Amino acid sequence: LTKDRYNVQRGNYATLTDRDVSFFEQIVGKSRILTDAADVEPYNADWLHSVKGYSQCVLKPKTTEEVSAILKYCNERLLAVCPQGGNSGLAGGSNPVFDEVVISTSLMNNILGFDSLSGVLSCQAGCILENLETHLEKHGHIMPLDLGAKGSCQIGGNVSTNAGGLRLVRYGSLHGSVLGVEAVLANGDVIDCMSKMKKDNTGYHLKHLFIGSEGTLGLVTKVAINCPVLPKSVNVALLGLESYEKVLETLKTSKRDLGEILSSCEMMDRESLQAVEDNLKLRVPIKDCPFYLLIETSGSNSTHDEEKLAQFLEHALDKNMIIDGTQASEPSRIKNLWELRENITSGLAKDGYCYKYDISLPHEDFYSCVEVLRHHLGHLPVLRVCGYGHIGDGNIHLNVTSKAYSKEILQSIEPFIYEWTAKVGGSVSAEHGIGFKKRDAVHFSKSTRAIELMHQMKKVMDPNGILNPYKVLPELPITN
Ligand code: FAD
Ligand code: MLT
Ligand code: ZN
Repeated sequence: LTKDRYNVQRGNYATLTDRDVSFFEQIVGKSRILTDAADVEPYNADWLHSVKGYSQCVLKPKTTEEVSAILKYCNERLLAVCPQGGNSGLAGGSNPVFDEVVISTSLMNNILGFDSLSGVLSCQAGCILENLETHLEKHGHIMPLDLGAKGSCQIGGNVSTNAGGLRLVRYGSLHGSVLGVEAVLANGDVIDCMSKMKKDNTGYHLKHLFIGSEGTLGLVTKVAINCPVLPKSVNVALLGLESYEKVLETLKTSKRDLGEILSSCEMMDRESLQAVEDNLKLRVPIKDCPFYLLIETSGSNSTHDEEKLAQFLEHALDKNMIIDGTQASEPSRIKNLWELRENITSGLAKDGYCYKYDISLPHEDFYSCVEVLRHHLGHLPVLRVCGYGHIGDGNIHLNVTSKAYSKEILQSIEPFIYEWTAKVGGSVSAEHGIGFKKRDAVHFSKSTRAIELMHQMKKVMDPNGILNPYKVLPELPITN
C-alpha cells in the first residue's frame, strides 16, 4: 500500500478547504459527509488492498439533484472527484489516487419500479445487486447478471464497469440488457437517457458511453434494465477433467447438447480450487483433477432439462471426456457447488498479495497463458499461478499470488503477459475494466488513434478532467 508504486503526478486540481465542506453540508447535510480519517479510510483502499488514496472527504448523496449540485460545484472549484459504488472493483478504479473527493452512491438505493409485462426494472444506481435479485424473485424475474460480489456491488458500479459475470453466456452483456441510463456530467448537467423501451433508435446511443466508462465520463444515477424470467428449473453439474483438451471437447459438447438451457459454463484449474480448500476450508466433493467445469442449466421444464443434462453427461462419460462429477438440482446443493467457484477470488486473496489479470483469449490459447506465465515466473517466490473463469465467453482470470507485494514479481508479469495476450489476439481487460491499474496496458488492445478519440470524448464531456482522474485513459503520447 505504498505510493511509490504509482508512476503518476497529481493533476493541477484545487485542494479541499473548510469552505468546500461547508458548501457540501448545505447540499447533503452534516450526517452524509465523512471527514474523520477513520471513517474515510475504507473508501481509500480497494477490495484487493492493492491501491490506496488519501481522500479526506466522502459525500453520500441520495438524489440526482444532489449529485448534480455537488458536481457543478466541484467543476467550478476544480475539485477532482472519485465515484464509488460497492468498492468491489478489481482494477483500482473506485478509489482516489490522491485527495479526490469520494462520491459514494450507497444511499441512492431506491427501486423505482418494475413492469412485470416487459420485465424492465428501474432503480437508482446504488442498489446492491443481490437486493435487486431478491426483489425481482418476488415478481418471478432475475437480474441478467450475477457476480461473486453480488452482496456488495451496486448496479451503478456494474453498469460503469460493464460487469460480465456468471450469466453472460446466456443473457449477454450489459450493453444489451441496460435499456436506459441517467447520468450526471462533470458540470452538473443531467443526461436523461432513461428509456424503458427495448427498441429506441433515436440518434446516437449515448447510454453506451456510460456503460463501461468507469466514472470518467459521468456519474450514473439511475438505470433501467431488462430482467429475464425466473427459471423454473435449475441444475448444476461439477465435472472433473484430466486435460485442457478434454475441457474444450466438453465445452463444445455442452453448447451443442444443452443449447438454449445452458446458463453458465465456468472453468477452474486445480490450483484455483486448492486456494479455496487451503484458505477457506471448503471441500471439493469430487476427486482431485487438473481441471473442473461448472455447468449450469436454467429452463422452464424440469423433466425436459434433466433429460437433456443426463444425456449430455452420459455422452461425456462414454467418450471419456470427464473422469468424475456430481450433479445438483436442490437449491442448497446448487449453492454449495457455486460457492466453490465464487470463492476463488477470496481464497486467492488470503494467500497474501494477488496479481490479477482478466483477459479474453481465443479458446485454443485460453489455458496456455497459465502455463506460459508459470514457466516465465519459475525462478520467483510465487505461491500460485492459476486460471479460472468464464470459459463459455473466452474470458480467463489469470492470477498469481505471493506472500506479500513484490515489485520484482509485478515487473516480471507486466508487460510480459500483455504482450503475449496481444500476440494471440486477445483483450487485456475482458470484464474488470482498466481502472487505475491497467491504463498503461490499454494500447495492447486499442490503436493509438482509438485512444486519441477516447481522449477527445473525455474533453467534450469533462473538459476540466475532474471525473475519476488518472483512470482508464493512458497518458498521451503513447511511448511504449
Ligand atoms: P466500484 O468498485 O465501487 O466501482 C467500479 C468503477 O465504477 C470505478 O471506476 C468507479 O469510479 C465506477 N463507478 C461506480 N459507481 C459508479 C456510478 N454510479 N457512476 C459512475 N461510475 C461509477 N466483475 C465482473 O465483471 N465479473 C465477475 O464475475 C466479478 N466477480 C467478482 C467477484 C468478487 C469476489 C469481487 C470482489 C469482484 C468481482 N468483480 C467481477 C468485480 C466487481 O465486482 C465489478 O467490477 C462490479 O461491477 C463493481 O461494482 P461496484 O459497485 O463495487 O463498483
Ligand atoms: C470472477 O469471475 O470470479 C471474478 O471476475 C473475480 C475474479 O476474477 O477473481
Ligand atoms: Zn469474472
